[in-house]
Amino acid sequence: MEFTELRFPDGFLWGSAASAHQTEGRNNNDWTEWEKIPGKIKDGSNSSIACDHYNRFEEDFNIARNLGHQVHRFSIEWSRIEPQRGIWNENEIEHYRRVTKALVARRIIPMITLHHFTNPLWFRNLGSWLNPESPELFAPYCKKMAEALSEFGVIWNTINEPMVVVAMGYLIGKFPPGEQDYGKALTVARHLLMAHGQAVTQIRKAYEDLGLDQPQVAPVLSMTYFEPYERDNPDDLELAQYLDTLYNRAWLEGAMTGRIPDAFGGGKRYPQLNPPVDFIGLNYYSRMQVSSKLDFLAGELPPKNPNLPRCDGLDWEVYPEGYYPIIKSVWDQWKTPIFLTENGIGTLDDSLRCRYILAHLQQVHRAINDGVRILGYLIWSLTDNFEWAEGYCSHFGLVEVDYETQKRTPRESAYMFRDIIQKNAIPVELQERHLGQMQSK
Ligand code: FCB
Repeated sequence: MEFTELRFPDGFLWGSAASAHQTEGRNNNDWTEWEKIPGKIKDGSNSSIACDHYNRFEEDFNIARNLGHQVHRFSIEWSRIEPQRGIWNENEIEHYRRVTKALVARRIIPMITLHHFTNPLWFRNLGSWLNPESPELFAPYCKKMAEALSEFGVIWNTINEPMVVVAMGYLIGKFPPGEQDYGKALTVARHLLMAHGQAVTQIRKAYEDLGLDQPQVAPVLSMTYFEPYERDNPDDLELAQYLDTLYNRAWLEGAMTGRIPDAFGGGKRYPQLNPPVDFIGLNYYSRMQVSSKLDFLAGELPPKNPNLPRCDGLDWEVYPEGYYPIIKSVWDQWKTPIFLTENGIGTLDDSLRCRYILAHLQQVHRAINDGVRILGYLIWSLTDNFEWAEGYCSHFGLVEVDYETQKRTPRESAYMFRDIIQKNAIPVELQERHLGQMQSK
């Protein structure tokens, strides 16, 4: 195979992403309660102190800086800020000011997610995202944080992967509240759209009231490349298209047009749903082959391709070929800049992580060459962390964490990524070394 140097546009931003509950430790939210139920977390573990990032953020950010990261995406834990409805914990607000400042001091741009899967217990007790008032219940917290962090040049993400909340929490039931109810799932999807609208509006208003320039604000979606298991079977094709619409496209359509998409019940246009956003955050990990002969909602999937490497625990196939078509189609539809806010693999085989990153970046580069405006690329994740229902059995970190001692050790992939960042390019030699004999099909 012939390789050429892959150069990225000037100003392209590189870094990594993480979330509060997966790294901080000592949280008290709906996930903490969920983890107490036997059988919900695969390895029987819980988020307990996780990577103790709450106390070790400076150390972690030093590592990120030494690895050349230019952006760090993290989330604020709502339950810390508003432990009871309308009661604000000023110490915790101050904590996140310190965290954000610590990034800025290291010349790393903070990209902050307001909601990354977890909810305060009072919000859960009010029915969580099924409550018709949920978008309004979420709004004051958004305003509070926008005000508190407005001076730090933050890039804002509203709600991380709303359709993962819907699918995992309300269809498949592997995340709290563990529902399997199509009607409820669609209700939650609609409320999450409105909550996104609220978040953008509150952020914009906070900056306006403070007389500040508007920050960059974006939704963040997870997209999976759905493929028919039998390529010539029209029923498989239809199922793949249906899932693509429901999971990948519909929510974004709502956020971009202000109209509740047909897949969520359709109908009305709500101007408050789609205040303008600056880019689309796109997370991609894998493909999913689907078969009409199986019950998808019961979790039945066709056998995986034995020739493709997989992500530990989650069992996702490594499928870089799905990245380009996903990126390209989002660009073709919305002509809005894209920030690749998560991509990575859970594995203890770090040479596989190197291959994964390079093979996905090749696809990113191809999309850029074809005119897609891509602002940056973030690896999930800076360190190993608590991988939700998988517990600690998936290792996504560029940096290894020894959970006994909390010692951090950058992996080889972290240095490879650092070299790419330094050059803003992927040299031929790196591709030859890692992708020379890669078999991906
Ligand atoms: C994404 C989540 C993130 C992490 C990765 C592996 O869907 O946003 O928290 O769990 O998957």
